[in-house]
Amino acid sequence: MKIEINSLKDYQHEYEKSIFSPEEFWEEKANDFVWKKKFEKVLEWNFDVPVNRWYIGGKLNITESCLDRHLEKSSDKIAFIWEPNSPSEKSIHISYRELFSKVCRFANVLKNNNVKRGDRVCIYLPMIPELVVAMLACARIGAIHSVIYAGFSSGSLANRVLDAKAKIVITSDGAYRGEKIIPLKAITDEALANCPEVARVIVVKRTGEDVAIISGRDVWWHDEETKTTDNFPAEVMDAEDVLFILYTSGSTGKPKGIVHSCASYMVYVDYTFRNVFHCEQNYVYWCTADIGWVTGHSYLVYGPLLSGITSVMFEGIPTYPNAERWWGLVDKHKVNVFYTSPTAIRTLEMLGLDPITKHDLGSLKLLGTVGEPINESAWQWYHKNIGKRKCFIVDTWWQTETGGIVLSPLLNVSEAKPGFAMHPLPGIQPVIVNEKGEELKENDVEGNLCIKFPWPGILRTVYGDHERCKKTYFSDYPDLYFTGDGCKRDNDGHYRITGRVDDVIKVSGHLMGTAEIENAINGHLIVVESAVVGFPHAIKGNAICAFVVTYEHPEHPENLKKEILEQVKNTVGPIAKPEKIYFVKGLPKTRSGKIMRRILRKILEGERQNFGDTSTLIDQEIIGDILSSISDATLVN
Ligand code: WT7
Repeated sequence: MKIEINSLKDYQHEYEKSIFSPEEFWEEKANDFVWKKKFEKVLEWNFDVPVNRWYIGGKLNITESCLDRHLEKSSDKIAFIWEPNSPSEKSIHISYRELFSKVCRFANVLKNNNVKRGDRVCIYLPMIPELVVAMLACARIGAIHSVIYAGFSSGSLANRVLDAKAKIVITSDGAYRGEKIIPLKAITDEALANCPEVARVIVVKRTGEDVAIISGRDVWWHDEETKTTDNFPAEVMDAEDVLFILYTSGSTGKPKGIVHSCASYMVYVDYTFRNVFHCEQNYVYWCTADIGWVTGHSYLVYGPLLSGITSVMFEGIPTYPNAERWWGLVDKHKVNVFYTSPTAIRTLEMLGLDPITKHDLGSLKLLGTVGEPINESAWQWYHKNIGKRKCFIVDTWWQTETGGIVLSPLLNVSEAKPGFAMHPLPGIQPVIVNEKGEELKENDVEGNLCIKFPWPGILRTVYGDHERCKKTYFSDYPDLYFTGDGCKRDNDGHYRITGRVDDVIKVSGHLMGTAEIENAINGHLIVVESAVVGFPHAIKGNAICAFVVTYEHPEHPENLKKEILEQVKNTVGPIAKPEKIYFVKGLPKTRSGKIMRRILRKILEGERQNFGDTSTLIDQEIIGDILSSISDATLVN
């Protein structure tokens, strides 16, 4: 596999070229794919509109670069080693040829079920091979996939199905998750009661649950597969046609459907996968992310397949049946490159060294982390106990909106600096701005992270709401893409992400919008309003605390608390459940009605006096009231 960046000199060479001749640079990077027609122009952009168009005039189908082109030389090579939730069930090896055949067969199934080019297909599945097959079959037929994390509630599923205007949903009877079975089909039925446009549900049999089959709407995946063949010529797509929509939480309103298009997403994910993870052709690579998040899209599905690499795909959780599971799998499959999240690392760190020392882990060569800032002790633990001090760690910073990795340490280029995402990848022009929006050009500065030039992975729009795309990412600072993250650049010019600066909270690496959770809490009859903020948590990175105002003083606060948790679980999903709930008399608000979450965060940090500038606070007494409710509270989890 081609790896362009093998030394500091290589990096400097690539980086300079990408900045001084971006079009030439990205044209070169696009050469090795299967094109039906070559593009005429590399880039057209304007951050004001915003418009970002890449490889204009090009025609292709991404699945031909992921699958067809590997068939000649490496059709028997394993694409995925699938490991089931339970160790007593056998793992399955799926070769590139088998995957190709499954994808083509399922593309026919989609066609037979009336899915057409451009239609949105919502996929609500556990981590089973059918999830990958369904995504690629959508791409093959030119339909737009929108994968919805199987941990989301029926309410969250319904919102996304409605927003995407999907007419078809793919799900399974149930999902295994450790000891639990999650009834996905029942949740889907509940969601679809509010989605009358959905005319077809394709159901994978996984857990053998009894499920309701609604005649005329629901069909079984395995029945449909037998009705067709595995021959499906790829639909010829325009470079700028939409490949997928993936929902991400925002600070206000409903989740945003982030839109990525076919050609440049492919080029960017491929380039970053090769140069960040340094896989050789015989390597086994394992990304532990769920495909319901962008990490799974870019670096479990598309990136490794574009490179023709063998990946592990794991259905279960790291602690089932015990804390040895992951390390046993690393040895069993001789994993060389391992990519996970700080939350997972901290969870396993808490469980001690015993589960690790029984395993060799000698196959590991490079480790990765993503999703939130990694604290130094977790980094050191990962480096020492998993990497045995010999594996390089890539702390990759990026977002659903960036499509692929944007900042990362690079093998043979960077020194090991815990907590630093280090360098911009070629093509990335990071800018740190102060509160006034002025660019801080020197080193040793801190501010908000922006990017001033497009890169191929950049989002195209927010599905159905281009104005929101403009407002969220391209309006805070003129001519810049705003990431929503705080960032430092140290004396050596190395980047370190400090965390979100807006009203979204990263819980166990999952982005949660304050508005989503507050809406769920406010849905309770006795609740007037609420405010949620994040606070530091040893394993989750951040946990959620809710300040809740009720119509009358709750008689049984413990019961009310349980009801609120249930409400959040059912409307957003279990990951959004607050860790702490305080019942308070009122919330700190500005004259314009905006909740000053900053004050609530300070209260949680233990601050009792110094709340900074509170001049815009409409009710000066409120802080005292909140402090006294908190000290009375017996309600902390
Ligand atoms: C947000 C994006 C990118 C895949 C998974 C998350 C945070 C991500 C890092 C990192 C510090 C990180 C940022 C970012 N984040 N990676 N290596 N160091 N923070 O995608 O759900 O769109 O979340 O995750 O805050 O803005 P996402």
